[in-house]
Amino acid sequence: MKYSFANDYSEGCHPRILEALAHTNLIQQAGYGDDSHTCNASDTIRRLAGNTDIDVHMVAGGTMANLVVLASVLRPFESVVAATTGHIYTNEAGAIEATGHKVEAAPTVDGKLRPADIVPFLNKARGHHLVRTRAVYISNSTELGTVYTKQELIDLYEFSKANNLILFMDGARLPMALTAPSNDLTLADIARYTDVFYIGGTKCGAMLGEAIVISNPDLKQDFKYHLKQRGALSAKGRTIGIQFEQLLQDNLIFELADHANKMASRLACAFKQLGCPLLIDSDTNQLFPVLSNAMITLLQKDYGFLIWSVVDEDRSAVRLITSWATPERVVDEFIKDLRRVYSVK
Ligand SMILES: Cc1ncc(COP(=O)(O)O)c(C=O)c1O
Repeated sequence: MKYSFANDYSEGCHPRILEALAHTNLIQQAGYGDDSHTCNASDTIRRLAGNTDIDVHMVAGGTMANLVVLASVLRPFESVVAATTGHIYTNEAGAIEATGHKVEAAPTVDGKLRPADIVPFLNKARGHHLVRTRAVYISNSTELGTVYTKQELIDLYEFSKANNLILFMDGARLPMALTAPSNDLTLADIARYTDVFYIGGTKCGAMLGEAIVISNPDLKQDFKYHLKQRGALSAKGRTIGIQFEQLLQDNLIFELADHANKMASRLACAFKQLGCPLLIDSDTNQLFPVLSNAMITLLQKDYGFLIWSVVDEDRSAVRLITSWATPERVVDEFIKDLRRVYSVK
């Protein structure tokens, strides 16, 4: 069977989670996120974020987190600005727009939004004839595998506050961002310099689940109503709570993310050694090597991955994703195969 580097969803969950789910299976718990596991996990997040005042809510997936958060913070005529590579702009089947809010997109060089990218959307000349930009959506790591520096986040946050904007970080891959070699942010910084963000579990060892963290007090009120109305409030919230409880114990989630990054870094070294360019420098678990079409065809016999973009007639950039479960042995085999196809390309 082909080994898939297509996404970070190919495996189930870390065995410790399965054990905990089995172990707690017949113990009665309150529903809708009021169970002891969700409470414990939420307390751990508060401790890691260094803020006892934050609200934590757990939902099943990233698109769901994005749409509930954005629909809850925006008034009917307000919009959100994102990078053109942003998941909400490119990959969610218009989920945000379906809640009645326009996604305004800014091109960026590296998937990271900066204050200058947002300025053109503010103070629109035709005023109330157009939507009002009110939220800023960023992802960390980004869809291109890049990470925000602390200074970049502070700049965005200060700009957002000066312009009455809500800063929202999609953290579907936040554990990978926080364990990237170039990262200088902590979870506490992220809680401090965003209004709302989430910690991804689905891509980081959980079967499913994202933990939404709200630090701006104005956004906390009635959030559970928004969750319920959009079908995002899980009756058996315990299933997500147990997963985060396990993932946050002994830093498991960060160990798993670090593994995913390290596997990608080994692949990146192999590509560089062969003189194979990467579309963008990334030190997280997504890689974008530029390969000849002949090489792509040969590699596709044994491996699954995404064709990301056409570079020219003969070459395309592909996307390879390593995960918390990618075995070192497979990475070594891929590198061997890569060297072989490179010599015959
Ligand atoms: C940045 C980002 N946000 C959110 C998601 C969640 O998407 P989904 O709801 O399809 O799992 C993804 C998945 O690829 C992602 O890359």
